[in-house]
Amino acid sequence: MLVSAKEMLTKAKEGHYAVGQFNINNLEWAKAILLTAEEMKSPVILGVSEGAGKYMCGYKTIVGMVEGMIEGLGITVPVALHLDHGSYEHAYKCIEAGFSSVMFDGSHYPIDENIAKTKELVAVCNEKGLSLEAEVGSIGGEEDGVIGGGEVADPKECAMIAGLGVTMLAAGIGNIHGKYPENWKGLNFDVLAKISEECGDMPLVLHGGTGIPADMIKKAISLGVSKINVNTECQLSFAAATRGYIEAGKDLQGKGFDPRKLLAPGVEAIKATVREKIELFGSAGKA
Ligand code: 13P
Repeated sequence: MLVSAKEMLTKAKEGHYAVGQFNINNLEWAKAILLTAEEMKSPVILGVSEGAGKYMCGYKTIVGMVEGMIEGLGITVPVALHLDHGSYEHAYKCIEAGFSSVMFDGSHYPIDENIAKTKELVAVCNEKGLSLEAEVGSIGGEEDGVIGGGEVADPKECAMIAGLGVTMLAAGIGNIHGKYPENWKGLNFDVLAKISEECGDMPLVLHGGTGIPADMIKKAISLGVSKINVNTECQLSFAAATRGYIEAGKDLQGKGFDPRKLLAPGVEAIKATVREKIELFGSAGKA
C-alpha cells in the first residue's frame, strides 16, 4: 500500500537523516528503486514528473504499476508515490489517480498566488490523507525542457508557505537540476540556515541531488534537509551500463538481445546508485 510521506519525513527530521526521492521513468526504474529500498530497509519516495507521467501513459497506469509491484515484489518498507514539480492542474490529476503525495510547484507565481493555491491544496490533501510539497524560489537547470536559472529563496516567504500546513518545503539554495557546471558556487548554507530557523520543524527538500558532493549533502541534512531528490544520476548510470553492454557486443551473443538481458546491467547500475544515496542520506534501516 502506498503511504503519505508525512510520517517518514517527520521521523527523518527528528532523526537527522534524509529520505531519497528517486524519479521513475518506467518499470525497470520503479522495480530497481523498490528492491533496493527493501534490501536496505529504507523508506522511499518515487518521484514522477509530468513528462514522465505522460511517457508512462498517465498517472493511473503508474499507480497500478507501483501498487502491483509493492504486492508482487513483497515490498514492506514505506513507499510514497509523489508528483514532482506539479502544476496546479496536475496536482489534482494525481490526487484523483491515487498518488499518495504531490508537489505543487507555485514558485513561478507571485508569492500571493503561490500562497493562495498552496493553501487550497493543503485543505484537499489533508482531507484525503496525502502529503504535500510546496516550493519557494525556483530550482535552476533543465527539467522536462524548462530551463531555470536557480533562485535563492527568501526565508520569510518560506516561513509564510511553511505556515500554511504543507508537509515539506522545497527552497532554492543555489541547487540546480541535472549536472552542475564546473563553475558552480555550491549550496548557499547561510540561506539554508536562515530558512531552517524560520521554518521550525518543517522538513526541507533539496532538489537537484545529482552531483552534490557528499560533504555538502551531510551539511544540508544537519541544517534541516529531510528529503533529497535524485533523478539525473540514475539516468547517467543506466545509460553508461547499457552503453557498456552494447559496446561489448553482448546483445549479439546468444539471446543477448532479449530486453530482460539487454536492460539488466542498467537496472543493476540504478540499484548501485540508489544504494549509494540511501547510505549517504542515512535512511538505511529506518523503515
Ligand atoms: P537531479 O536530476 O539533478 O538529480 O534533480 C532531481 C530533482 O530535483 C527532481 O525534482
